[in-house]
Amino acid sequence: MVEINRDPEVARHLNRPVDEAAIAAFHGLVAGHWEQYGFGPYALESREAGLEGRFLGFAGLAHVPPFLSAAGEQPELGWRLARSAWGRGLATEAATAARDDAFERLRLPQLISIIHPENERSQRVATKLGMQPSRQIHNPALDLDVDVWALDAPAG
Ligand SMILES: CC(C)(COP(=O)(O)OP(=O)(O)OC[C@H]1O[C@@H](n2cnc3c(N)ncnc32)[C@H](O)[C@@H]1OP(=O)(O)O)[C@@H](O)C(=O)NCCC(=O)NCCS
Repeated sequence: MVEINRDPEVARHLNRPVDEAAIAAFHGLVAGHWEQYGFGPYALESREAGLEGRFLGFAGLAHVPPFLSAAGEQPELGWRLARSAWGRGLATEAATAARDDAFERLRLPQLISIIHPENERSQRVATKLGMQPSRQIHNPALDLDVDVWALDAPAG
């Protein structure tokens, strides 16, 4: 994940600029999130023949950081993959599994994703998950209004 986070193309549309301190803190934050809440981002591993087990990135839930608290209380569904893995439907496949886990196992009433207005790839993933842009909030780290995409749990 360190390598993936260091790729400027990966970091281009994230919610805050990525520096070396953030890269070093990443694993501890994810592990701590799992420990505290019992859920968090999942590590993604390849199932492709010959590349089984190769680390690809993450998809899953995380509570939003305090500087984005205007997005509300519900955890965010996020996704981030190595550039070599893009464009093959893998983010959608992984995020769909994380979405279903959030509704079926964790019984969350709603999911959100905070997406940079120019992040078209991410918008496509959110659309394919059934999410819709619901409102905008100001992201002070980027000094930019960003979109909050949302999806309610299916009825029943
Ligand atoms: C966003 C991200 C996870 C998508 O991963 P992915 O595995 O390529 O996603 P998928 O293949 O499932 O879907 C990507 C969609 O974007 C589309 N796409 C590909 N290149 C694109 C481009 N240049 N412009 C717009 N859309 C594009 C694909 O066609 C696909 O849509 P489709 O299935 O309707 O054709 C990946 O690009 C990434 O890690 N980006 C950097 C981190 C990031 O921005 N995370 C999200 C923060 S909100």
